[in-house]
Amino acid sequence: MAAGKGTRMKSKLPKVLHQLGGRALLQHVVDTAALLNARQVTVITGHGATEVEAALAVNTGAAGQFDLNFVRQEPQLGTGHAVQQAVPVLRDDGLVVVLSGDVPLTQAATLQQLIDASAGKQLALLTIDFADPTGYGRIVREGAAVKAIVEQKDASPAQRQITEVYSGIMAVPALQLKKWLARLDNQNAQGEYYLTDIVKFAVADGVPVVAHKILDPVQVAGVNSPVQLAELERAYQKRIALQLMEQGVRLADPARLDVRGSLSCATDVSIDVNCVFEGQVSLGEGVKIGPNCCIKNVSIAAGAVIHPFTHIEGGAPGSKDAIEVGAGSLIGPFARLRPGARLGAEVHIGNFVEVKNSTLAKGAKANHLAYLGDATVGERVNYGAGSITANYDGAFKHRTVIEADVHIGSNCVLIAPVTIGAGGTVGGGSTITKDTAPLTLAVARGRQVSIANWKRPSKK
Ligand code: UD1
Ligand code: CA
Repeated sequence: MAAGKGTRMKSKLPKVLHQLGGRALLQHVVDTAALLNARQVTVITGHGATEVEAALAVNTGAAGQFDLNFVRQEPQLGTGHAVQQAVPVLRDDGLVVVLSGDVPLTQAATLQQLIDASAGKQLALLTIDFADPTGYGRIVREGAAVKAIVEQKDASPAQRQITEVYSGIMAVPALQLKKWLARLDNQNAQGEYYLTDIVKFAVADGVPVVAHKILDPVQVAGVNSPVQLAELERAYQKRIALQLMEQGVRLADPARLDVRGSLSCATDVSIDVNCVFEGQVSLGEGVKIGPNCCIKNVSIAAGAVIHPFTHIEGGAPGSKDAIEVGAGSLIGPFARLRPGARLGAEVHIGNFVEVKNSTLAKGAKANHLAYLGDATVGERVNYGAGSITANYDGAFKHRTVIEADVHIGSNCVLIAPVTIGAGGTVGGGSTITKDTAPLTLAVARGRQVSIANWKRPSKK
């Protein structure tokens, strides 16, 4: 169910598309369903339907393990009415698990337990005890047997004392569900069609109703406001941090880590505080990440060290825009690796060096204040402070090739397309416009030009 409005988010974005850990809330729910080997996932949309459907199709299409389909609920007349919209697409022989698009952190194992509890033929409700149950549907029991769910607004004072609440998640055989949905009415305090009314129909039909009660409130927590979104983001990040530490990753502070995608780590990886990982990041054995780094879509090989305040922003994994950092490389502090940076082993990229769409072979170094764009840099090249590849002529990008063992002095401008021959040296301050032969020293400094009548501009 993802039709609700989410007014309290105070946002133009449909509620279920707000991001948590780099994925839309609804995407979490669909991804969890995928872990259960669902045959079909049906998303009930209403508010922001077009946007929600488009966003989800993009991310789920590739997985392709199940049929993803959408049904619309217009207008929104309650949770029972929402599920009624899905009746035509639900197969009679299935077990239906009802989930909320704004409850992102239910674990697949919990849902599997709920499915097991239903045993394919009973109505199974996921429930939890809340010290303050205000607002939730209460689980009404007679002895141990579940008899009904009563919504807050319809509950008697005595029922309001019940602390066991319905989480909004149930597993129910499709055929039974369809029968019961047909019997719903809206004769209640809110004038809505309540999905929760099917509990009394099950009881009346002699179908056992089982409650699977859990302890962890995070798994049933919904997002209705920015505060709740931030709380669940922290809960999610804590979960990821614990998983990483269980694998042996050393986090300086698990409360100061953000993973907005997938982070895979080999042994002996350490990560200092305030790092943000996005997209797909893999860290090889012994990699060290310093504090305050933003790291996106990159594979960093064994032994590399990323010093503080480094910004690595790779493009789509597997594309030419992805980034690779070779084994034993030293990056930063304050380095910037942009899409298509491919660094071999033992490359050094120092402070205020920007690398874009460039390949650097083993042992190449650019330690200070430099730009390498659209360049192919050979082994052991030393690229001086303040030097740049002038790769753009205003219309086209051109390549610069710097062959092995070249030394580029400080403040050089290499005007692409240009090749600096192997073993050559370019003198500091040179502007190189033509290819240089191997093993040559190229010095090409601008001449001082005198203009007879030139006068320095003055305000007077
Ligand atoms: C519902 C349950 C309540 C339970 C609570 C848990 C009903 C009648 N009540 O409360 O017992 O304790 O969830 O959070 O089911 N939605 C639609 N269309 C609608 C109405 C809702 O798609 O017409 C979706 C919402 O987007 C949301 C979910 O259903 O994802 C739950 O809706 P919400 O209004 O939050 O729950 P309540 O009805 O208050
Ligand atoms: Ca409601």
